[in-house]
Amino acid sequence: RAGRLPVADDGGGGVLSELADSRERARAALPREVWDYYEAGSGDEVTLGEAEAAWRDFRLRPRVLQDVSRVDLATRLLGTVAASPFVVAPMAFHALAHPDGECATVRGAGDAGCLTVVSTRASRTLEDIGAAATGPWWFQAYLMRDRGLTEALVRRAAAAGARAVVLTVDTPYVGRKGRVSGVRIAVRDDQYLVNLAQHLVPGAVAREAAEQDPSMTPDTIGRLAEVSGLPVVVKGVLRGDEAARCVEAGAAGVVVSTHGGRQLDRVVPSAHALPDVLEGVGGRVPVLVDGGIRSGTDALVALALGADAVLVGRPVLWALAAGGAEGVREVLHGLAEDLRHVMAVAGAARPDALDRSMVTTA
Ligand code: FNR
Repeated sequence: RAGRLPVADDGGGGVLSELADSRERARAALPREVWDYYEAGSGDEVTLGEAEAAWRDFRLRPRVLQDVSRVDLATRLLGTVAASPFVVAPMAFHALAHPDGECATVRGAGDAGCLTVVSTRASRTLEDIGAAATGPWWFQAYLMRDRGLTEALVRRAAAAGARAVVLTVDTPYVGRKGRVSGVRIAVRDDQYLVNLAQHLVPGAVAREAAEQDPSMTPDTIGRLAEVSGLPVVVKGVLRGDEAARCVEAGAAGVVVSTHGGRQLDRVVPSAHALPDVLEGVGGRVPVLVDGGIRSGTDALVALALGADAVLVGRPVLWALAAGGAEGVREVLHGLAEDLRHVMAVAGAARPDALDRSMVTTA
């Protein structure tokens, strides 16, 4: 009798098909307008459409004869230690995906050994999120027109357990998204900008006070570090010279990001902006990247180019919608296992064994 050889020893259809399933389950579970809000990009959605493919523009130059019998994904970022380099990107209103909102996300991510970045537009209070967290979390801030609001929030985040502030700088105005133009999403009052309510002056309208301040300049970086006592990481940088300007203004890290294709359309994809930003930063601070990261191989390319970690956006919302905290744990675990596998096959037993020589343009 013929022996049976495993054709694909991956326990299933691989991480991409798991993500595709989870995406379809989320689409079926979510109201149409929420699904569109999650999916949408700005403008003609050119940037949105290019994000995933851009990671495939690189080719790997693997090492051989390395001992890869154990692959350790442990990642240290500004004193925060995580079991894997996958980080949950900050995204608004998780309660639209699941009733436990960010409390479920932070629990699922923590159980997978991952760091979570919690959005200013979270639908649960920072204190509840801090109490639910089973792993490290950072707080994403916008500088709002009412600057006192931002300062109050970063102080509260620090008290609730956040270990860094991520200041998003690519949003002087919110990008126009044709897919959801004129569409209203019903958000319960107790889930809409819950973290702002207690800091508003009587009579102030949350929506107006919480608009991004388009006059923000680099001194905000130092100011938020001072107020919060935390390192400030700047998110939404696509040029080396701008990244250098942030570092010189006191940024403790930089996130290369197109905001998931939701801000300026037709910007260079994150994958292609990353090398320039790394050069501008020159190793002075950690560099993270997001946009279209959907597999261990995408992460492998990013880490080999020189990123210290990768953020994952929409797949976490799909998993949250379809499976709550357990869904979030599973998707992040699946991505980490996929990365562990491709790192082994590429001859790298630890993220710091990856370097620029292992990747070339296609
Ligand atoms: C976002 N993103 C985002 N970024 C941020 O700094 N603050 C925020 O509140 C939000 N909100 C938000 C909502 C939704 C529905 C999405 C899809 C995205 C951007 C996010 O942090 C990240 O940059 C991208 O989502 C990463 O790209 P992928 O993984 O979604 O392709």
